[in-house]
Amino acid sequence: MTATPKPVHFLLLFYVCLKTLVLAQDENQFIYNGFQGANLHLDGLAQILPNGLLQLTNTSVQQTGHAFYQLPIKFNDSLPQTLSFSTNFVFVMVPEYTDVSGHGIAFTISPSTNFTGAFEGPYLGLLNSTNNGFASNHLLAIELDTIKDRGFNDIDNNHVGIDVNDLKSIDSATASYYSSREGKNETLKLLSGNPIQVWIDYDGGENLLKVTLAPIPSPKPNRPLLSTHIDLSPTLLNSMYVGFSSSTGATATNHYILGWSFNKSGKAQSIEISKLPSFPHQRKPRGKPAILETSDPRLRGEYLKEEMELVLKLGLFCSHPNAAVRPSMRQVVQYLDGDALFPNDIILDIAGIGTLGVRNEVSPEFAMSFPSSVLKGFHDSASSSLLDSG
Ligand SMILES: *[C@@H]1O[C@H](CO)[C@@H](O)[C@H](O)[C@H]1NC(C)=O
Ligand SMILES: *[C@@H]1O[C@H](CO)[C@@H](O)[C@H](O)[C@H]1NC(C)=O
Ligand SMILES: *[C@@H]1O[C@H](CO)[C@@H](O)[C@H](O)[C@H]1NC(C)=O
Ligand SMILES: *[C@@H]1O[C@H](CO)[C@@H](O)[C@H](O)[C@H]1NC(C)=O
Ligand SMILES: *[C@@H]1O[C@H](CO)[C@@H](O)[C@H](O)[C@H]1NC(C)=O
Ligand SMILES: *[C@@H]1O[C@H](CO)[C@@H](O)[C@H](O)[C@H]1NC(C)=O
Repeated sequence: MTATPKPVHFLLLFYVCLKTLVLAQDENQFIYNGFQGANLHLDGLAQILPNGLLQLTNTSVQQTGHAFYQLPIKFNDSLPQTLSFSTNFVFVMVPEYTDVSGHGIAFTISPSTNFTGAFEGPYLGLLNSTNNGFASNHLLAIELDTIKDRGFNDIDNNHVGIDVNDLKSIDSATASYYSSREGKNETLKLLSGNPIQVWIDYDGGENLLKVTLAPIPSPKPNRPLLSTHIDLSPTLLNSMYVGFSSSTGATATNHYILGWSFNKSGKAQSIEISKLPSFPHQRKPRGKPAILETSDPRLRGEYLKEEMELVLKLGLFCSHPNAAVRPSMRQVVQYLDGDALFPNDIILDIAGIGTLGVRNEVSPEFAMSFPSSVLKGFHDSASSSLLDSG
């Protein structure tokens, strides 16, 4: 034993140290071209499907889903440069109905993967009404938001926002990308059902956060959508988790991530599009809602009279003899939320008094959430009888 020459010991030790170093460095960078076998922390509706597709939510209403890289990432190691990071991912949102959706996806950097107590809907599964806005949250989120929520000053129902400890974004823009081929900005529909790539780059030296979007298979545009000066040193702790948070509201969307790369030591590697898992496409809605004859007996009369009246009137409106007059699902949501006034003359119209030739113009606003028992009942019956009956 003692005959073993010293250099071997030294070499062995050297090898072990090197290996540990490489491993330690690897923890701060990774790439998933599909998530088959990925070691992620999942909760809520989040799951990895057999083909490697990461599903954050399905179309169950008022739910959340989280998917985070298991190991904490070192961020704030005394030098501002250590705050830098680069990430790149591909997502697709497949709404249940063409023009109704909720709520969105947020790339998230958080001190913990425990989101117990976080709300669904406009809170995106990140925070709740008690802790929203607190500096002690140490939370950074880049939201891809498909609902205009007035409470959080959302600009529209198709935007990208930078959230620091608060669902009220510090900066946001309508989803779009600069097409160098066209030489102009093109609007992107987050809910198109087509995959969209996102690049998020933070330079801790310059305090500059850039968010860039483009549809697959376009290359990374050379002009970012958001380029925001922000010092993340008060926000990012040394040990943080990176991942995705997603939620549904009264309306729901299938939220998927197809691939993801993350890097603390340089530019995040490009995702290999050809390796990404396939995803389900949107099913055509089976028909406009039919008449809601009476209130759902399962509610046992536990509802507000005004809300039930509105729901019943909506049922009538949806069965208007003139198909062009019937409201779209988006309008239905707006009436339910009180974002648009219900046109009472429509009911008279259906009763045969006069004809309505002009379709009402409705502002492009979306609803946020309907916590009441009636609307829960509306949803239950919507899925079982209302919408299916065509
Ligand atoms: C969504 O997923 C949950 C949990 O996996 C399941 O219980 C629920 O039925 C699913 N909802 C839909 C609409 O598929
Ligand atoms: C990040 O590091 C800087 C420099 O060491 C320090 O002043 C700051 O308090 C740190 N931030 C957090 C949230 O720990
Ligand atoms: C998550 O946090 C809640 C309190 O917000 C706590 O009750 C629960 O035990 C925690 N769960 C885990 C797995 O740590
Ligand atoms: C908000 O979340 C925190 C942390 O999980 C929890 O302690 C608190 O009870 C939650 N508030 C509400 C209103 O649910
Ligand atoms: C294109 O989008 C960028 C980023 O939102 C914006 O700064 C720029 O003004 C837009 N240009 C045009 C021509 O709309
Ligand atoms: C991280 O950046 C380094 C340096 O640019 C690069 O060699 C490495 O491939 C990157 N890793 C990932 C997973 O993006």
